[in-house]
Amino acid sequence: MNKFSFYNPVKIHFGKGSIDYLRKELPQYGKNILMVYGGGSIKANGVYDDIMAILNDLNCHVFELAGVEPNPRVETARKGIAICKEHQIDLVLAVGGGSVIDCAKLIVAGAKVEEDAWDIVLKKVLPKEGLPLATVLTLAATASEMNSGSVITNLETKEKFSWGSPVCFPKFSILDPAYTFTVPTNQTVNGIVDTMSHIFEQYFNNASNTPITDEMSEGILRTLIDVAPKALKDPTNYDYRETLMLAGTLGLNGFLSLGSRGDWATHNIEHAVSAYYDIAHAGGLAILFPNWMKHNVHVNPARFAKIATNVFGIDPSGKTDEQLALEGIEALSAFWTSIGAPNRLADYNIDAAYFDEIVGHCMVNGPFGNFNKLQASDVRAILDMSL
Ligand code: NZQ
Ligand code: ZN
Repeated sequence: MNKFSFYNPVKIHFGKGSIDYLRKELPQYGKNILMVYGGGSIKANGVYDDIMAILNDLNCHVFELAGVEPNPRVETARKGIAICKEHQIDLVLAVGGGSVIDCAKLIVAGAKVEEDAWDIVLKKVLPKEGLPLATVLTLAATASEMNSGSVITNLETKEKFSWGSPVCFPKFSILDPAYTFTVPTNQTVNGIVDTMSHIFEQYFNNASNTPITDEMSEGILRTLIDVAPKALKDPTNYDYRETLMLAGTLGLNGFLSLGSRGDWATHNIEHAVSAYYDIAHAGGLAILFPNWMKHNVHVNPARFAKIATNVFGIDPSGKTDEQLALEGIEALSAFWTSIGAPNRLADYNIDAAYFDEIVGHCMVNGPFGNFNKLQASDVRAILDMSL
């Protein structure tokens, strides 16, 4: 393992009815609450009413920022920042999936600086403090509820970047699996693919001797492969939703990269693709990840073979690591296809028209990836394989 320091201060309240923890948690922060949410799912499924009832009981002054987009835009965060500055907001309450939470992270950081929010995303401005943030998660996928990262899109400049700051760790997050019963099939699939991709990004790392995190990662992957089809058939089954939710959080709260540094190249390429085409993050990952894997087997075939045998149960007898690796990658593609994820850019009507720009966007900070450093030609090859 690499030497490491670990910090994650997020308090999690997990389980049915956990929304009641709002009563206990909120009063310490103050009464001016900015509630941030998306396109209306929380109004349709009753989550909004549950929360408003509690905020009213607590005599909170509630301000609202509705309409956060999937792939949240910097303009929307700017609106939230203006509300915080004008109304002396005490706490920002993000209610939704990763997009809403990521937008709220930029709001809490942007509320404490004079500079424009996009400069925070570009890391030209490093926030030193932030407003308190709390989250109520409604979609299991990103782990944004338990990390300090955020991904923001600027459609004007066709840029989508991740950034992060310790000031963005939520003070607490409420995770009630029953709040995910209404997540539609395609978004449930996206959540599963994103969670699995986060695990792969960290599994393909730059360290040796990582048996503990390897076992944790392989165990979560096996569990997801078992539970995903069941959850998709029976979306209001609490046990299945509970498993997906915990998997999502563990997938990117830092536990799986204790002592190692994950690769993250595929996420970088996907963010560039979705900056151009505004596709679902996990849809892009489902297409790109198997091709990143095929392109990189040569770096450490044994690592890929381990996934094939330990996660997909492929019989290793008489096979080389390379053969096993390729069988494992095929098994992954077949699994994602079986649950309804896309597997070609053509599924989104994307052709090579913007590949040069997308490659340029990916290379903005030079070669990238910690398992294998990708050059522009590698990125182009992976995109070509994904057509
Ligand atoms: O907008 P609403 O009406 O809320 O609908 C959302 C949205 O349309 C809907 N939804 C959420 N909860 C629901 C629900 N529909 C019915 N019932 C519910 N309970 O689902 C749709 C997608 O929501 P979104 O928040 O966009 O999905 P997700 O959680 O997958 O977040 C994706 C964003 O997170 C970024 C991605 O790039 C993308 O912008 N990521 C953030 C990360 C992080 N902060 O650590 C890491 C990830 O790798 C990722 O890049
Ligand atoms: Zn992701």
